Amino acid sequence: MYFFLMLIFYFCNVKSLILLKTDLILAIESSCDDTAAAVLNGRKVLSNCIANQDMIHKAYGGIVPELASRAHQSKIIPVVTQALSEANIDKKALTAIAYTQGPGLLGSLLVGSSFAKSLAMALNLPLLPIHHMQGHLLAHFIQDKNLKPPCFPFLGVTLSGGHTQLLLVNEYFEMKLLGTSLDDAIGEAFDKCGKRMGLSYPAGPQIDKLAQAGDSQRFSFPIPNLNRYDVSYSGVKTAFTNFIHKQEQKNPDFIQQHLNDLCASLQFTLVQIILNKIEKTAKDLGLKQIVIGGGVAANSEIRKQLEARAQTHKWEIFLPPLAYTTDNAAMIGIAGYYKLQQKKYGNLSDSAQARLTL
Ligand code: KG4
Ligand code: ZN
Repeated sequence: MYFFLMLIFYFCNVKSLILLKTDLILAIESSCDDTAAAVLNGRKVLSNCIANQDMIHKAYGGIVPELASRAHQSKIIPVVTQALSEANIDKKALTAIAYTQGPGLLGSLLVGSSFAKSLAMALNLPLLPIHHMQGHLLAHFIQDKNLKPPCFPFLGVTLSGGHTQLLLVNEYFEMKLLGTSLDDAIGEAFDKCGKRMGLSYPAGPQIDKLAQAGDSQRFSFPIPNLNRYDVSYSGVKTAFTNFIHKQEQKNPDFIQQHLNDLCASLQFTLVQIILNKIEKTAKDLGLKQIVIGGGVAANSEIRKQLEARAQTHKWEIFLPPLAYTTDNAAMIGIAGYYKLQQKKYGNLSDSAQARLTL
């Protein structure tokens, strides 16, 4: 008997056998500059792997789309192999393949979507095309001790390098856009202002760090007051750039001498803009659950200020753990899980879309 069990373990991989009857989803995310793959068993993340491209784009002060696509091409097989191996799952045990259909950089999306389609075809598996921003919000439904799923409806706020959105989330895939950035996204504002201060890409996390030792009230920048629920970040960016330009004419070392205060003041303003809109939207719609997602949701100031306002307004706030904040494939996997539950399958003719709408 013992010998027989050993044989099964050796040849079949016991974990794959035990999990055979559950939903094993391979998820692929390649919308921007990170090649990511994850394996989920239902809502539980078995592996979540990322090949980061920061070193490639660092020298250019932003993402170079052509270099991003090439890096995805060289990384996708190793990352998917790693995700399957860390999850201890054979690809033949998979139930479905989820991938990011858009929005994002077209060349990058094409690498992930083509790979997902080819693998699905080879293994005869259903495809689950996912909207990247929906993935950022649905990350809160991952089964994890640090996460508590919100209840519908809630106010979803996506904060990334390409998007700043306020959404009324009525259901997993029923998200109504209430407001958005009319120009730069919040992450873009962090990155572009950071570049002006000589910081490398992505500047957001560095500004967050440098701001810890700075005075957020040292400099002030304008906060736009738009009607409705839209936001704008290009005005602050221009005001910040002009301010630095003027100061440098008087003192060429201005940035170096005031880097911490500049970061803290800029960060305070960028965060204030979105928090004012969250406050207005939540009040007008009578929403008490605020759920944030996207790379900028990692920002310590936004977390701190959101917690303070939550106390005042009796909101329940949902902050993702850092592993599920910046781009990752687990968030695509959980969105895939709900699509699978609802039998919302994709097919081979679904095309990658740089400007996929909600
Ligand atoms: O969601 P994400 O990983 O990729 C996109 O979908 O764009 O977001 C990337 C953005 C970048 O602009 C990056 O600077 C910003 O998130 N970011 C931060 C922090 N961590 C990442 N911005 C401010 N503070 C942070 N701690
Ligand atoms: Zn993202």
